Amino acid sequence: MARKKLAFIGGGQIGGIMSLMAAQKQLGDIVMLDIPDREGMCKGKMLDIAESRGVGGYDADMTGTSDYKDIAGADVVIVTAGLPRKPGMSRDDLLDVNVKIISEVAARVKENCPDAFNIIVTNPLDSMVYGFRKVTGFPKNRVCGMAGVLDTSRFCSFVAMEMNVSIEDVAATVLGGHGPTMVPLPRLCTVGGIPLAELMPQDKIDAIVSRTRGAGTEIVNLLGNGSAFFSPAASAIMMAESYLKDKKRVLPAAAYLEGEYGINGFYLGVPVIIGAGGVEKVIEVKLTDDEKAALMNSLETVKTAVADVDARI
Ligand code: APR
Repeated sequence: MARKKLAFIGGGQIGGIMSLMAAQKQLGDIVMLDIPDREGMCKGKMLDIAESRGVGGYDADMTGTSDYKDIAGADVVIVTAGLPRKPGMSRDDLLDVNVKIISEVAARVKENCPDAFNIIVTNPLDSMVYGFRKVTGFPKNRVCGMAGVLDTSRFCSFVAMEMNVSIEDVAATVLGGHGPTMVPLPRLCTVGGIPLAELMPQDKIDAIVSRTRGAGTEIVNLLGNGSAFFSPAASAIMMAESYLKDKKRVLPAAAYLEGEYGINGFYLGVPVIIGAGGVEKVIEVKLTDDEKAALMNSLETVKTAVADVDARI
């Protein structure tokens, strides 16, 4: 059986880590594409990973390129092309530059790779994935955004750190847009099957919720010249793996909503099933009035960004 093929558009920080992770997991052959000026960088990173195979023992062809013809036939496309945040910038501050990049990338992906499952990572996430789908016209099950997996991983990590327990026993979900209005749902969080509220006082839970909302900014401020890349890469690869192996994992992702949660015509973070059919199903959680209000508040932020995207493409 031929190996699967993954195309990573954007060979920067996230693109590089994703390539290593995908190779180590033997998900398939990998093509990393960036702008012509950075073709050498892509080739260098891919050769470097290829040369680690002797130690890692994984089989994968690694290609660095700036030629979209090389992504033809890819099963999965993950887009990180665009600028990352710098200290003082919000994700929405990236919109002007990144919407142009996403439009161009979307048109080229459509031309060269019309059957792939597409995961968008570029920020501001919820509006960029909307723009990508608008340009490609791909069916909604084949275009989603990576944010909820990351936000949830952050939430779970903070719970595990606070309680000094294994991350393996923490389960949670974070809904909404990828930004300060995101909606962590501590009510649904469990540690070893026990509801979080039985294990931690409310002020500690509130602090974790608030740290989760600002987790991306915390990293931006520490790094000084870019945004998080290890955890976003791991999150996108988890989604790609669920698709490629038809695992049907239940993961929060930016999915196109047509009536679910009372929302129509927008991408927003919700739990979905990802399998061979792409985004196979949106799972509707019954929310409390407060949670619903928080989700609607998050949608308002996304709507503003989407209006900007609609004005440009
Ligand atoms: N086509 C292909 N690649 C592009 C294009 C384009 N039109 N424009 C920019 N790029 C490339 C850049 O050359 C760069 O190598 O995208 C890459 C982005 O890499 P980094 O700057 O290292 O950013 P990274 O940390 O990987 O984040 C990428 O993901 O999480 C989001 O906010 C983050 O929007 C940012 C994106």
